[in-house]
Amino acid sequence: MSHARVLGIGLAALAAAAVAYAQTEVTPIPDTAPVESAPLEPAAPEAPTTWGDPQNGQTLAGTCAACHGLDGNSLDPMYPRLAGQSEHYIAEQIARFKSGERSDGMALIMKPFADMLSGQDARDVGAWFATQKSGAGVADDSVVTSGPYEGMRFYEVGQQLYRSGAADRGIPACMACHGPDGSGNPGPAYPHVGGQFASYTQQRLETFRNGTGAETGEPLFRIMAHIADRLTDEEVGALASYMEGLHPAADDLVASAAPVPAAAPAPAQAADEVPTAQDTLQADGEGLPADGAQAPAADPAATDAAPVDDGADADTDVPAEDGDTAADADSGAAELG
Ligand code: HEC
Ligand code: HEC
Repeated sequence: MSHARVLGIGLAALAAAAVAYAQTEVTPIPDTAPVESAPLEPAAPEAPTTWGDPQNGQTLAGTCAACHGLDGNSLDPMYPRLAGQSEHYIAEQIARFKSGERSDGMALIMKPFADMLSGQDARDVGAWFATQKSGAGVADDSVVTSGPYEGMRFYEVGQQLYRSGAADRGIPACMACHGPDGSGNPGPAYPHVGGQFASYTQQRLETFRNGTGAETGEPLFRIMAHIADRLTDEEVGALASYMEGLHPAADDLVASAAPVPAAAPAPAQAADEVPTAQDTLQADGEGLPADGAQAPAADPAATDAAPVDDGADADTDVPAEDGDTAADADSGAAELG
């Protein structure tokens, strides 16, 4: 059989969607296949997933609505918000629920719904939620009455760690990976954390700290485990509260940037929000960000310094009497904690 003929068969088979047949004819031993047969890319052995289709995702999300809300803004803090979460992160977590790796917390409630989704479904539904705008809650501004943070407002304890970390204890600034407004970074799957219910964030941080399931072997999990290990209970609570109130100051800007390009996992943040070099870096990178380019090392107030210019700053809503930044006219932050 001439090679041209094999190719011809392969293409015809492809056209007829009989991919399996093409495979057996053309690439019987993938590793040692003759070079000439290599270009027949389409007959890949496993159906790879592609960037999620939000429209199909919307249909699938009907199943999720009872708990997570159709747009991913659940009403019950027992169920995490998915709105604004990255396509990758959602698909990855669904895969972990399915495999049983993610078994802490309330994972058992979630598992049967994950089991219903194929890998592509998970990306489609992820793409749908990624295009939805996350609501936010209100951070706790009561004054801490004792301990190392005495005199500070509770959310300020979280704010300080979120923006600056604690270098002396090896705690990096959360915003280096999760972004100044908590939008995360979809490239390397640093999840969106802004506006999430405090109780859920607290549970996640405790899982990172004490997790026992197979998930603890995941490299991305270990990044967070390493960080959460160093947080006290008080800090976990304060961070969770701060992050519940965290949302982009220019919500409109973020909302208009929401539709995700079909092929590229471009950062969901407004393009001018973060230096592009950093985006590229993080979008390709695995694991830790290469340096502190995005970290607020010297100036924790940086993101508040110029509240008027553009979408670069973030707000945490706190009850009104704190004059900080709250001027809370944004539409999406109405939900209660
Ligand atoms: C019966 C309620 C219920 C339904 C329906 C449901 N979920 Fe969940 N989901 C949960 C609970 C509870 C959790 C939190 C699990 C935990 O504690 O780790 C969760 C967590 C998740 C997470 C992890 C979020 C994060 O930030 O870590 C994702 C992603 C998710 N669900 C996606 C979906 C999708 C997609 C659907 C629909 C196909 C769906 N869920 C349907 C209850 C539900
Ligand atoms: C070096 C990058 C990095 C830094 C710094 C970082 N995180 Fe994370 N964070 C991650 C990654 C990666 C994940 C996803 C973990 C996984 O896949 O299991 C994550 C997940 C989370 C989640 C779970 C979100 C969800 O919906 O399930 C929370 C909450 C969180 N981080 C909070 C924090 C806080 C608070 C800090 C600062 C004290 C922080 N992170 C610092 C990378 C980072």
